[in-house]
Amino acid sequence: MIICRTRAELKLALSNLREHNKSIGFVPTMGFLHEGHASLLRQAKEENDVIVLSIFVNPLQFGPNEDLDRYPRDEQRDLALAEENGTTLVFLPSVQEMYPQKPLTSVIVNQVTDRLCGATRPGHFDGVGTVVSKLFHLVNPDRAYFGMKDAQQVAVIEQMVSDLNFDVKVVACPIVREPDGLALSSRNVYLTPEQREQAVVLSRTLRLAAEWKEERGMTAERLEAKVKEALNAAGEAVIDYVELLRYPSLQPPEAAAELHTFAEPLILALAVKFGATRLIDNHILQAT
Ligand code: PAJ
Repeated sequence: MIICRTRAELKLALSNLREHNKSIGFVPTMGFLHEGHASLLRQAKEENDVIVLSIFVNPLQFGPNEDLDRYPRDEQRDLALAEENGTTLVFLPSVQEMYPQKPLTSVIVNQVTDRLCGATRPGHFDGVGTVVSKLFHLVNPDRAYFGMKDAQQVAVIEQMVSDLNFDVKVVACPIVREPDGLALSSRNVYLTPEQREQAVVLSRTLRLAAEWKEERGMTAERLEAKVKEALNAAGEAVIDYVELLRYPSLQPPEAAAELHTFAEPLILALAVKFGATRLIDNHILQAT
């Protein structure tokens, strides 16, 4: 497995690989890898000759009061997991390497960022759009793999790729969960044992909501209220948002519309805090 820490090393390694006309699958991450990241690597492996993984905790996408400084890191474990899952090349740049000077250019995707994490984490998706477009330029992949765990991020990247003519196919991969339903996240390590037990309320409520959606008279507002009530039953849960939106536009359905009449996909997206740890999860509710 090739390890590159600078743009120059990456460029040289990729030009050698490209000489042999190999297809490149790219998995961008912030490290502290888990089975969710591994599933992206494995899917990339199935569809490409060469797998490039990037590990970079991107300061641009963290707000001033967020967890940039305490974001978990374990380079040796990450490299072992990358190798086990067939990675060809790992790009591990420093902040100085990615941002040698303060960037004056950002990639801002409008509208799909109006709600959910776009509203509760101002500037977050500007940071994501900017770093992912830089990484796309550096790696120039054929396909790039993103998890539906961050469904709004997928919508943002797809819009950016389409608007800015990036020559890459965005592949959205399913959410990987613990046996009890909790979506895997690098942030799960912050949870106390009690919070970890309570956190199962997110996935359990999403499953229930898929059934509630089919009830006669169920509107977005009513469904959101029922979901909030279920989440609040977990003692330490503090709701950041609960929103039912159209997917992938991430715009709200008409207030009076009954959800079971919808032909297009809807997304139920949740952000819930347990102490200082903020967890997100979502479920795409398909028409039945
Ligand atoms: P990070 O949170 O490390 O996630 C990297 C990728 O792994 C994302 O596409 C994310 O959706 C996916 N992922 C995380 N948990 C998952 C799970 N349980 N199941 C499936 N996929 C999962 O997302 C980022 O990093 C950053 O914003 C990044 C795109 C790297 C830009 O900095």
